[in-house]
Amino acid sequence: MSNFQDKIVVITGGSDGIGKALVQQFLALGAKVATCGRNTSKLALLEQENSNSNLFALQVDVSNSLEVEAFMKAIIAKWNGIDILINNAGISMRALVQDTSYETLHQVMDINFWGTVYCTKTALPSILKNKGVVVGVSSIAGYRGLPGRSGYSASKFALNGWLEALKTELYGSGTHVMWVCPGFTSSNIRNAALDKNAQAQGESPLDEAAMMSSEACATHIIHAIDKRKRSLVLTFTGKRTVFMNKYFPTWADKLVHHFFFKDGVLVK
Ligand SMILES: NC(=O)c1ccc[n+]([C@@H]2O[C@H](COP(=O)([O-])OP(=O)(O)OC[C@H]3O[C@@H](n4cnc5c(N)ncnc54)[C@H](OP(=O)(O)O)[C@@H]3O)[C@@H](O)[C@H]2O)c1
Repeated sequence: MSNFQDKIVVITGGSDGIGKALVQQFLALGAKVATCGRNTSKLALLEQENSNSNLFALQVDVSNSLEVEAFMKAIIAKWNGIDILINNAGISMRALVQDTSYETLHQVMDINFWGTVYCTKTALPSILKNKGVVVGVSSIAGYRGLPGRSGYSASKFALNGWLEALKTELYGSGTHVMWVCPGFTSSNIRNAALDKNAQAQGESPLDEAAMMSSEACATHIIHAIDKRKRSLVLTFTGKRTVFMNKYFPTWADKLVHHFFFKDGVLVK
């Protein structure tokens, strides 16, 4: 029997990418899984693909605190508590600082940072009671600011700091707090990423086929939760970037610039 048998696991943004892979793997491990997203057809497809399982899916925008409260209330009414919350819902952006609208920055912060705050604060009393786990799906951009992703980087730095503070407040309580930082992972995130005018850019500037799969990423995250690791950094490039930035930050500035720019133009 798996360690997650009958555990109540809430995964925000479970209708695509890493979240969807997490939903499917937790269901296979015997967990009861609640998830949400904004697009109802993607949620309906998820339900159809997992029709005989312990899945509860609801249309919720995590940047709306009232919708989040109703979601958590519905989960607790259905299953009587929450053991694990994975704050996975997130969006990215791609535009230079000087071109980026406030709307793009606000949307990214509202979903990635405030969405995590709303979900965590609302679920926390139940998670504390169950000595459960709070997870934030952050990014390498939570350790190293990335060009063209200023708002995304800010949201993930904020997420790491907020969760580290929470972790320290809960030290010794039996409730575990962790943040996981995937490297480039194949998903819909770059298609959905906002451009300078807060519109989905509708394409990926990177080679998605060369990336870690969402399924592999989810397996690493579940293993880290099982082992109650402090944090997790994924992919060779991701680990190298975090290491370089910690010990050789000026060199990292140059390498990261070279990766994203060609002849002075942001190409990735
Ligand atoms: N893929 C990568 O390379 C990568 C790398 C590092 C970190 N991450 C992080 O991993 C997490 C998952 O990303 P992904 O790559 O799997 O992206 P994805 O394929 O675009 O999936 C994102 C999921 O979040 C949902 N979502 C977005 N905004 C939402 C909102 N306001 N309320 C509720 N649900 C929302 C989406 O559904 P709807 O659009 O229907 O709402 C979708 O189910 C994100 O936090 C991302 O920052 C990804």
